[in-house]
Amino acid sequence: MTSPGSDRTEKQDHLSADGESLSAYMQRQAARVEAAFDRLFPAHWVMPDRLREAMRYSLDAGGKRMRPILVMAAAEAFGGDAEAALPVACAVELVHTYSLIHDDLPAMDNDDFRRGKPTNHRVFGEAMAILAGDGLLTHAFHMIADSGLPADRALAIVRELSEYAGPRGMVGGQAADIMGEQGVTGLAELEYIHLHKTSDLIVFSLRAGARVAGADEAGLAAVSKFGENIGLAFQIQDDVLDVIGQESKLGKATQSDIKGMKVTYPFFIGVERSIEKVRMLTEEGKKVLLSGHVPHPGRLLELADYLMRRDH
Ligand code: IPE
Ligand code: IPE
Ligand code: MG
Ligand code: MG
Ligand code: MG
Repeated sequence: MTSPGSDRTEKQDHLSADGESLSAYMQRQAARVEAAFDRLFPAHWVMPDRLREAMRYSLDAGGKRMRPILVMAAAEAFGGDAEAALPVACAVELVHTYSLIHDDLPAMDNDDFRRGKPTNHRVFGEAMAILAGDGLLTHAFHMIADSGLPADRALAIVRELSEYAGPRGMVGGQAADIMGEQGVTGLAELEYIHLHKTSDLIVFSLRAGARVAGADEAGLAAVSKFGENIGLAFQIQDDVLDVIGQESKLGKATQSDIKGMKVTYPFFIGVERSIEKVRMLTEEGKKVLLSGHVPHPGRLLELADYLMRRDH
């Protein structure tokens, strides 16, 4: 398997108003986040080498860096500075990476490949993989506390991260997903699972970027609605790619949902209608962004289109 980052955005290389293509923009923002991972912990912090290695292994494995890119693009959409949003962007990638490490564990989805490499527990063992996830999650909050943002904005972002990533958010969605293996009954329950296990962290990313830039309530509401739609579309696309995607592009095994007896959109309504649903949700999300409450929505609109068409 090759790294999924290698052909990141080749299909959508159109130029935006400032002349930078979407793929160049995404690569530039991803590189910033990756460079910041080299200064993840204060130099004087002592911790077991193996734990540090396990955390870095999954962080450095690549991935699209979609959530941090959304944080920075949302800050810019409200006239803010991507640099000011960088610590929060890194924090959300830490939370996302922890969620993947735990998601792949034998007790959860039991997957062997992630981001083109053996999963964390395959390399470091289950106990260290659990702890690496714990470490990444905990450190995300430290990064926001240390971000240099005005205290009221940092506090609001910390509060929302715990809400959107925690039991009312992503963890709740993951719990419902696991319970669903024993028989989800309908589309409404499946929508709950998707909105929480996946949309919530995407909504958080957009709101946090908007908050860094001082967005007002109407702006926050607009990006939330956008995030719910593209988040749901993102998970349906993930489920579609689990059926028809290529392992070499995805960097993870396909047919994992079938093996895990997951109930997914393709399971309920078929692949064709699922793809159509992804398209409709993306269009709906884009419409909300054009409501007038987001001053510079250009990149976010492009990112929504990119996500709809992605093959990895
Ligand atoms: C995978 O997320 C897990 C889901 C929520 C579907 P991504 O597709 O963003 O994974 P990476 O970060 O690119 O590896
Ligand atoms: C995972 O959903 C969502 C998370 C919060 C990690 P999946 O289980 O479908 O993600 P993949 O397909 O393993 O990346
Ligand atoms: Mg899962
Ligand atoms: Mg999984
Ligand atoms: Mg999946």
